Amino acid sequence: MISRILVTGGLGFIGSHFLDLLLKNEEENVVIVNLDACTYAADISLNKQFEKHSNYKFIKGSITDRALLKELFLEYKFDSVFNFAAETHVDNSISGPGVFVDTNVMGTFSLLEESRLFWEANNLMKISKFLHVSTDEVYGQLGSVGMFTEQTPYAPNSPYSASKASSDFMVRSYHHTYGMNTFITNCSNNFGARQNDEKLIPTIVRKAINGEEIPIYGNGKNIRDWLFVEEHCEAIFEVFKKGNSGESYNIGSYNERTNINIAKEICNVLDESLPKKDGLSYSDQIKFVIDRKGHDFRYAIDASKIKKTIGWSSKKQFKKELKNTIDWYVNKYKI
Ligand SMILES: NC(=O)c1ccc[n+]([C@@H]2O[C@H](COP(=O)([O-])OP(=O)(O)OC[C@H]3O[C@@H](n4cnc5c(N)ncnc54)[C@H](O)[C@@H]3O)[C@@H](O)[C@H]2O)c1
Repeated sequence: MISRILVTGGLGFIGSHFLDLLLKNEEENVVIVNLDACTYAADISLNKQFEKHSNYKFIKGSITDRALLKELFLEYKFDSVFNFAAETHVDNSISGPGVFVDTNVMGTFSLLEESRLFWEANNLMKISKFLHVSTDEVYGQLGSVGMFTEQTPYAPNSPYSASKASSDFMVRSYHHTYGMNTFITNCSNNFGARQNDEKLIPTIVRKAINGEEIPIYGNGKNIRDWLFVEEHCEAIFEVFKKGNSGESYNIGSYNERTNINIAKEICNVLDESLPKKDGLSYSDQIKFVIDRKGHDFRYAIDASKIKKTIGWSSKKQFKKELKNTIDWYVNKYKI
């Protein structure tokens, strides 16, 4: 069905798992090009395993580079685009928002525009598809009840979520204005192997096994809805294959946890698998630190649309996959 695929940000956390899925499933004659700017968040070493597939091609470059995008469209004649490339860490967006606007807003615009120009010029608009990977953070924050649906008005609170919301609006406009077949997925927090060191779960594991304080923002009661990264990738692919053009799909697993609960669960797993020599629990290392500016209280996804219309739902193997994830980081960080 799909034959010439552009994946952006495929050396990042989620994009790399998506490439695993594509390379496993797609026929040898499907060309898969990964365009990644190789920022601090990319793991370039992953190319070694991806390059074992003869239909995989890596290009180092930015989605903000219109001339490069134009060249790539001419050379590879993409009919499918999956946009994972983004700046993604909320704390970084607070200390330096500019690059979030450059990549997430201007980069997504450049990708949309070069897709449109190529597809219109080659009469490919009707058969081509553009899937944009977004986040539940665009909806703002919830109180202790309720869930985000696809109808929840956007109310982003951080420069990160505002830049993602802006990119979602650009994608939406390309469907309504130019008839592009667009799909937006808004997913909750992901966990799994290969996440950048700066993110919550890698930080907790690393600090724990290094005997350092485990920093938790505020009182630790902020709530996130956690989904295993490989399930997220499966859901994205299902939306791409079966979704309605121009629509958005929330992806989540009804798995809400407070940050302190996540920290304690990780410490419990480590207490079992890697007991401390002094017999104490890793949870003694948890330390509450000054809260993130504008820290959203709660996110929760109503994932009933994707279940009803596409037939995807999470299999919810949280404990098992969290244990595998922790083992992966222990292996990465152990001295
Ligand atoms: N991580 C989560 O929990 C989560 C949840 C929901 C949605 N998302 C969304 O999923 C997507 C992927 O997130 P992630 O966690 O894998 O991010 P990540 O930070 O781990 O990886 C981002 C990748 O994009 C690349 N990149 C950055 N700027 C680029 C540019 N200008 N051009 C080309 N490549 C560039 C980086 O080099 C990196 O490889 C993002 O759009 C993010 O908003 C993430």
